[in-house]
Amino acid sequence: MERKEFLKKLGYSAAAFFIVDFLSGCGKGDQVPIVDFYLDLTDPANTNLLNLGGFIYVNNTIVFKGLDNNYYALSKVCTHQGCDVEYNVSQNVMTCICHGSRFDITGTVLLGPAASPLFEYATELIGTQLHVFTP
Ligand code: FES
Repeated sequence: MERKEFLKKLGYSAAAFFIVDFLSGCGKGDQVPIVDFYLDLTDPANTNLLNLGGFIYVNNTIVFKGLDNNYYALSKVCTHQGCDVEYNVSQNVMTCICHGSRFDITGTVLLGPAASPLFEYATELIGTQLHVFTP
């Protein structure tokens, strides 16, 4: 049975199946966001992901289609003071409208005031299902 069929049988044929949880990491007090969900790219709610530079917000993530035609997912929460970041396709960077921080498409800080990177999630395209998960 293919994954898509399996999900449909479970009743998750709509846009997404997700699990978001937080676990303490390595005794350092860090929070490691655990994300595991699917986006159906045939669902009209996810149409933005069919276009280069298109993005959507799902479960505290920003999922987007980069200029290289690959899918990326990052925490949408700016590490400075928590505003949402946006994908600026013309410059191929993530920008925060609150105080101007910029991040590359893997979440690395390019310009402060944010000092910490955005958490990067893994993506895997399986047919028309985009799997987004914590690596
Ligand atoms: S909250 Fe993003 S730069 Fe301040």
